[in-house]
Amino acid sequence: MLTPNQIAVIKATAPAVAANANRITGTFYPLMFERFPEVRSVFNQSHQRSSAQPEALANAIIAYASNIDRLEVLGPAVEGIVQKHVSLNITPDQYEIVGTCLMEAIGKVLGEAVTAEVADAWGAAYWQLARLLIAAEEQEYARKAALSGGWRGARRFKIVEKTPESTVITSFRLAPVDGGPVMDFLPGQYLGLRLAVGGETVHRNYSLSASPNGRDYRISVKREPHGLVSAFLHDSVQVGDMLDAYPPAGEFVLRDGTGPLLLVTGGVGQTPALPLAEQALAAGRTVIYVHAALNGSVHAFRGQVDRLAALHQSFKPVYCYADPQPGDRPHMTGLLDRDRLAALLPDEDGLHAYVVGPKPFMAAVIQALTALGLPPSSIVHEFFGPREALA
Ligand SMILES: Cc1cc2nc3c(=O)[nH]c(=O)nc-3n(C[C@H](O)[C@H](O)[C@H](O)COP(=O)(O)OP(=O)(O)OC[C@H]3O[C@@H](n4cnc5c(N)ncnc54)[C@H](O)[C@@H]3O)c2cc1C
Ligand code: HEM
Repeated sequence: MLTPNQIAVIKATAPAVAANANRITGTFYPLMFERFPEVRSVFNQSHQRSSAQPEALANAIIAYASNIDRLEVLGPAVEGIVQKHVSLNITPDQYEIVGTCLMEAIGKVLGEAVTAEVADAWGAAYWQLARLLIAAEEQEYARKAALSGGWRGARRFKIVEKTPESTVITSFRLAPVDGGPVMDFLPGQYLGLRLAVGGETVHRNYSLSASPNGRDYRISVKREPHGLVSAFLHDSVQVGDMLDAYPPAGEFVLRDGTGPLLLVTGGVGQTPALPLAEQALAAGRTVIYVHAALNGSVHAFRGQVDRLAALHQSFKPVYCYADPQPGDRPHMTGLLDRDRLAALLPDEDGLHAYVVGPKPFMAAVIQALTALGLPPSSIVHEFFGPREALA
């Protein structure tokens, strides 16, 4: 617990920290990677280059400092951080490293303003949050290890199937080398993978793209232009190759309810929507499955989704192509704007929308759905990277 004086110091200095938060995190990461190179591999370096991760940490620090005496409002944000950390197997000893480097970065950026009293208050505040995260993460690690087919830390998996799904997306089925079962995940969740690319250890998250079956997991990867891991998976990884995976995690999962589901995905954002659709259909819910793709050549999983439609009357797929080519068979063409989405909304009450895709796509779809009267609390979205503001 922070003392009343420490809370007062945090409140007094929070505006200065907030005003410099991006400079602080921009100083923090290079300092940490230089001083403790062993933690570098767990961070996606593209998220450093784009500043998405430094900004996510800066926003978390600002939110924390501004709510230092009412931490309960941070609940959902904390859960998102915990899930991302758990997917990458973040451990308590690494909090020492982050704490030391963060305090040093604050000192470097704010200079003499960081008196002994200020350093003490921010150090105490860091450890209050760190202890909260460490405890929540430990609970998740222990819970996953206790599940049937569950485990803790890295587990060796073998690629047992590699299937092209479109010109840019390929699926990989991963089965544990130990031959044991794998824990069920919640549809919408993702894996953390650890693999060696060109002699360097790297980590990436991939959504699970097929419903749980107890035996293996499927991920589906889009080849990113100049992408390190996606190109390696597409070009070099073959059936029989091995990599490490941490247990599934994530909070982009089906919410309670009986109302219809509107799944709106763009490009490879379709991956978590596939098991989510199957779960909702099994629960007897109506599913409107809207998928936006550039054209038929990059449209993955059409066969799988069409088969679902043949099996379930309550499932309606809608394919929208921005730039259809001769021979393509979309239901709609152009961009998914307000009018196109309005035509797809069901009459039933209790609609929930799940949106996944590139940031501008999610921003446009969520803005259109909100304009159509869907309350923000009924719309959830997932970032394939650190969370960012959609505005
Ligand atoms: C929760 C979650 C779920 C995800 N699910 C999926 C999924 O189901 N399928 C999927 O395909 N992906 C998914 N991702 C994204 C995935 O984790 C990777 O980010 C993605 O595969 C790209 O990784 P990469 O190593 O190929 O690209 P990176 O090497 O990380 O590069 C990413 C982009 O940055 C650019 N870049 C890299 N270096 C530079 C540089 N020096 N200068 C300028 N630009 C540069 C590259 O051109 C590329 O376009 C998910 C991510 C998260 C967080
Ligand atoms: C109080 C301490 C910490 C806070 C407030 C914090 C905050 C965050 C936030 C806000 C994100 C982005 C989550 C998202 O949008 O998905 C994140 C991701 C991450 N955090 Fe932490 N974190 C802390 C400690 C740590 C520690 C100790 C490590 C271990 C080295 C760590 C490693 C990571 C990694 C690897 C990611 C994903 C980065 C990426 O995608 O490149 N964090 N953290």
